[in-house]
Amino acid sequence: MAKFPRERVRFGIVGCGVVSHLHAEALKACPMTELVAVADVDRDRAGRFAVEHGVPRVYTDFRELLAERKVDAVCVCTPSGMHGDIVLAAAEARKHVLCEKPLEIRAERMTAMIEACRRAGVKLGAVYQRRALPLVEQVKRAIDRGELGKLVLCDASLKYYRHQSYYDSAGWRGTWAMDGGGALMNQGVHGVDMIQWLAGGVVSVFGKASALARRIEVEDTAVAVVRYRNGALGVIEAATTVYPERNTRFEIHGERGTIVFDDSGLLEWCVQGSEAAPGTVDTPSISGVGSYGHYRFVEDMAQAIVEDRQPLVPGEEARKAVDITLAIYESSQTGREVFL
Ligand SMILES: NC(=O)c1ccc[n+]([C@@H]2O[C@H](COP(=O)([O-])OP(=O)(O)OC[C@H]3O[C@@H](n4cnc5c(N)ncnc54)[C@H](O)[C@@H]3O)[C@@H](O)[C@H]2O)c1
Repeated sequence: MAKFPRERVRFGIVGCGVVSHLHAEALKACPMTELVAVADVDRDRAGRFAVEHGVPRVYTDFRELLAERKVDAVCVCTPSGMHGDIVLAAAEARKHVLCEKPLEIRAERMTAMIEACRRAGVKLGAVYQRRALPLVEQVKRAIDRGELGKLVLCDASLKYYRHQSYYDSAGWRGTWAMDGGGALMNQGVHGVDMIQWLAGGVVSVFGKASALARRIEVEDTAVAVVRYRNGALGVIEAATTVYPERNTRFEIHGERGTIVFDDSGLLEWCVQGSEAAPGTVDTPSISGVGSYGHYRFVEDMAQAIVEDRQPLVPGEEARKAVDITLAIYESSQTGREVFL
C-alpha cells in the first residue's frame, strides 16, 4: 500500500449507541485521528451524537458514509449481528475497519469479512480493549517468557449482572439473530478472548449454557471445560445472573508459578525462585477519554494504517473468542466435546 498521504486518519462511526461514545472520545483525543462522520438508522440519535461530539457529516444510511471520500476508516458500533454487513460494505468501499467485539456472531461471516478486507487491502481490527491494559501486557510477557513453567490450569470467571431491563432496552439484546448469544457472546467474550490469548489457544471445549433467570432466547449462564493447545486445562464460567456481579477474574497456574488478577488489578503473582511480584504499572488516564483501552485501540488502528502493518487484534485473532463461544454452544446442544 502507498504511503498514507495525511497526518491524521479520518474516521467515521457507524452506530451511535452506548459504546460509540468511547470511540468518539478516543478519536477526538488522539492526535493521529479525526472524527469526520457518523451514521445511525435512528436519525435523532445520530443528530444528537453529532452535536455532542462536533461531527460535521451525519447519515442514516451507513453506505452513504462509506461512499464519502473524506472517510479513511470506520468504527463499527452496531449490534453484533450487523457487523458483517457493514465490514463487507466497508471493504468494498476500500475503508479500513475497527470493529467492536464480537467480530461477528457467525463463523462463515467472519471468514468472508477477513477475506474481503484482505482482498481490498484494508485493515480489519477488533476491539478487545482489556488486552491493552498495562497489567495484562505484563502478565502476557511473563507467560510467554515461560516464567510460570508449563501451564496446567487457566481459568476465567466472568460473572456479570444484567437486569431484565437491560435486555429490554434494545430489541437486539438477548436474541440469537443479532446478539448471537448472551453471557458468553456479549459480555463474556472479552474474558474468553483474554484467557485463550494468555493461555495460547484452545483445542476443545465441553460446555453447558442455559437461560436460567432472564426472559431471553440466549444463555444467561454458562460453564465450559477447556483444553488448551499447550495441554493445559481450564474452566470458563460466564453469567449475567450473578448478584452482586463480581470482578471478572483470571487464574493462570503453571508448574512453577501462579498469577491471579481481576478488574481491580493484580491479586497474586507468585513464581518459584523469584522473590517478589514485579511492580505493576497503573492504567494511564487520558483527558476526556472514558476507556483507556478504546483509546489505545483507536490509536493503534491509525498507526497500523499509516505504517501499513497489522492492528493489535486483527480479524484472524479476533475471531478466536467467537469460534470458542460457538463451540461451547454446540457442545451444550449436542452433549459432546467440540474440537476447534
Ligand atoms: N468493547 C466493549 O466493551 C463494548 C461495550 C458495549 C458494546 N460493545 C459492542 O458494541 C456493539 C454495539 O453495542 P451498544 O451497546 O453500543 O448497542 P446500542 O444498541 O446501544 O447501539 C447500537 C446502535 O446501532 C444503531 N444501528 C443499528 N443498525 C444500524 C445500521 N444498519 N446502521 C447504522 N446504525 C445502526 C442503533 O440505532 C443504535 O444506535 C455490540 O457489538 C456490542 O457487543 C462493546
